[in-house]
Amino acid sequence: MAYEVRGVVARGKGAPVTVETVLVPDPGPGEAVVDVQACGVCHTDLHYREGGINDEFPFLLGHEAAGTVSAVGEGVTDVAVGDFVVLNWRAVCGQCRACRKGQPQYCFATHNAAQKMTLADGTELSPALGIGAFAEKTLVHSGQCTKVDPQTPATAAGLLGCGVMAGVGAAINTGGVQRGESVAVFGCGGVGDAAIAGARLAGATTIVAVDVDDRKLAWARQFGATHTVNSRETDPVEAIRGFTGGFGVDVAIDAVGRPEVFTQAFHARDLAGRVVLVGVPTPEMQLTLPMIELFGRGGALKSSWYGDCLPSRDFPMLADLHRQGRFPLDDFVTETIGLDDVETAFEKMHRGDVLRSVVVL
Ligand SMILES: NC(=O)c1ccc[n+]([C@@H]2O[C@H](COP(=O)([O-])OP(=O)(O)OC[C@H]3O[C@@H](n4cnc5c(N)ncnc54)[C@H](O)[C@@H]3O)[C@@H](O)[C@H]2O)c1
Ligand SMILES: [Zn+2]
Ligand SMILES: [Zn+2]
Repeated sequence: MAYEVRGVVARGKGAPVTVETVLVPDPGPGEAVVDVQACGVCHTDLHYREGGINDEFPFLLGHEAAGTVSAVGEGVTDVAVGDFVVLNWRAVCGQCRACRKGQPQYCFATHNAAQKMTLADGTELSPALGIGAFAEKTLVHSGQCTKVDPQTPATAAGLLGCGVMAGVGAAINTGGVQRGESVAVFGCGGVGDAAIAGARLAGATTIVAVDVDDRKLAWARQFGATHTVNSRETDPVEAIRGFTGGFGVDVAIDAVGRPEVFTQAFHARDLAGRVVLVGVPTPEMQLTLPMIELFGRGGALKSSWYGDCLPSRDFPMLADLHRQGRFPLDDFVTETIGLDDVETAFEKMHRGDVLRSVVVL
């Protein structure tokens, strides 16, 4: 029998989200139902609402969540009822050509629940990133449930499920930041600040935060930025060269996902440096770069899907570092809100008033 819960739905492009009755089926083979305790509001949810990801409306939004497993389907052995889990949106398959090459972080056939959650009238919902956790319960593939230390507060733990992991992973997994290196992070929202915190964790000694909002730059300092640049007022490429002996940084991370920002990141790195794109562009964006510079600067241009993370390796690690006081997971939570406040949270995100609003259920 299906569960009847409240969930946040985006019905059409740009339309304000509404709280609707959502039917969550009993878990089938390989699936799990999770009682959501907390779910962060990520910019990707807003991208969905604006039609920037795809047109498969209506969406059940929310994908940065932690909660407790409340039911499992046939054949599920990796998680059990009562487990405290963070939901991940890349449950690796173990069988595709990436997995078989020993590169599961690139898995090309990640798992989601096979059944659909629906509105009360039977309309099928597209869960954001295969999760849909702005809801009291959600249905996922059991591989999307990653156990972490149950002492971790759900509000903070949920953020490991997307923005924080994407940012930290962009720095340490994709960017491969090493002790003593210099890093610049463009865009200091939840993802960018996590990249800054990740760069600090990895031992970077120069960490430049770039944003167009001074409030964001003040937060970035708390997470470990050693220098800040407001790129509305100052040319960030010149400033970054100034902080690095005239050369540029070893790793430049674009956590905005716009062509002009990527171009700044491209020019702000040292010879043989790495550029990491973790911000998500929209389908119509185009990039033009001087090809001679692409060659002449060497190094690597990389994209970071989910921080190239392995949830089973990286979520428990970050939760443990948090418990030991070595990773400031709680500091990403600006406010806790209810399901009815998601639309207002989008406005606050848009104005730059928050790092993360977290829905608590
Ligand atoms: N690759 C992934 O796996 C992944 C995962 C999660 C989120 N994302 C993406 O990362 C991006 C950031 O997400 P977020 O939740 O941190 O968003 P956010 O809205 O909280 O932060 C974006 C920041 O960028 C700043 N900004 C905007 N324009 C800028 C510019 N021209 N130059 C410098 N800074 C600028 C804003 O002031 C803000 O501080 C989004 O595109 C999101 O979709 C990617
Ligand atoms: Zn795979
Ligand atoms: Zn996200």
